[in-house]
Amino acid sequence: MSTASAPGKIILFGEHAVVYARPALAVPVTQVKASADVSHSDRAGVWIEAPDVALRAELSTLEPTHPLAAVVLSVFQSLNVDSPPALKIHITSTIPVASGLGSGAAVSVAVIRSLSSFLGHLLPDTQVSALAYEAEKLYHGTPSGVDNTVITHARPVYFQKHADGNGADIEPFRVGAPFSLVIGDTGLPAPTKEAVGDVRKLWESDKARWEVVFHEIGQIVREAREAIESGHCTALGPLMDANQALLQELNVSSPELNWLVETARAAGAGGAKLSGGGRGGNMIALVDPQRAKHVAAALRAAGARRTLITVVG
Ligand code: PMV
Repeated sequence: MSTASAPGKIILFGEHAVVYARPALAVPVTQVKASADVSHSDRAGVWIEAPDVALRAELSTLEPTHPLAAVVLSVFQSLNVDSPPALKIHITSTIPVASGLGSGAAVSVAVIRSLSSFLGHLLPDTQVSALAYEAEKLYHGTPSGVDNTVITHARPVYFQKHADGNGADIEPFRVGAPFSLVIGDTGLPAPTKEAVGDVRKLWESDKARWEVVFHEIGQIVREAREAIESGHCTALGPLMDANQALLQELNVSSPELNWLVETARAAGAGGAKLSGGGRGGNMIALVDPQRAKHVAAALRAAGARRTLITVVG
């Protein structure tokens, strides 16, 4: 049997603008993970079992555009496997689905690693990330690539897509002093594809105006990276608030996200913002470690479906 797992992720700064070749900062969230076990099967065929999403199917019965089928087929193709042995891929995940924590990319990375290792050729990280990116396109349409990158490398990354759409600069960054975040889940599904599509419509309606907003977000990301690297974490709170204001202007927040962001601030967080595609899904708040539990409790009392406390660095 071959097993692999991959963490969840959060985007600290720069979501949406990252699609328009501005930088973003993302970090892994190791409290949650997706895992895949690949083993020999007595039954002929390639069986995919994902009980969390009630899936149990033989590969050839799935559409080739099904994200899981696409990932499996892409591994066979990369390794020139024309007739795969009878095998079973069992997938589990503790990452909430469609909430901005990268569940799709984490499942892809876990499957790619466990399957390629089962077939005797563990793929290098660049290829793991590239294959996961292809699957992300099936989930999201036009993803920037930040999710598959941070989840493959499982460390903080500064990510910036090239303006011509070919490739990206990926720089792991240093965390000068650890800082704590509370992650609060609205419990509402976060339709990333829709939010990204709506931002595109806005941008097309007035490119000059929205390019200014993307530029401002890019500046916040650069300042945040500097603050994190130099260990000046308290500077991150106001930067989160400024990023959230711009995301609200882009119309990707929601009343529920705004409410949790305000609740976190009122409970003593240094700053807060949505994380990921927005509209639903998760928000994050910068907290003193001593106040983390208090802020998490305030978020749950205000309606957060679940909260996680995570330390970056
Ligand atoms: O909703 P998530 O966590 O998959 O994040 C989406 C981040 C966006 O910047 C909105 C889109 C992207 O592909 O980068």
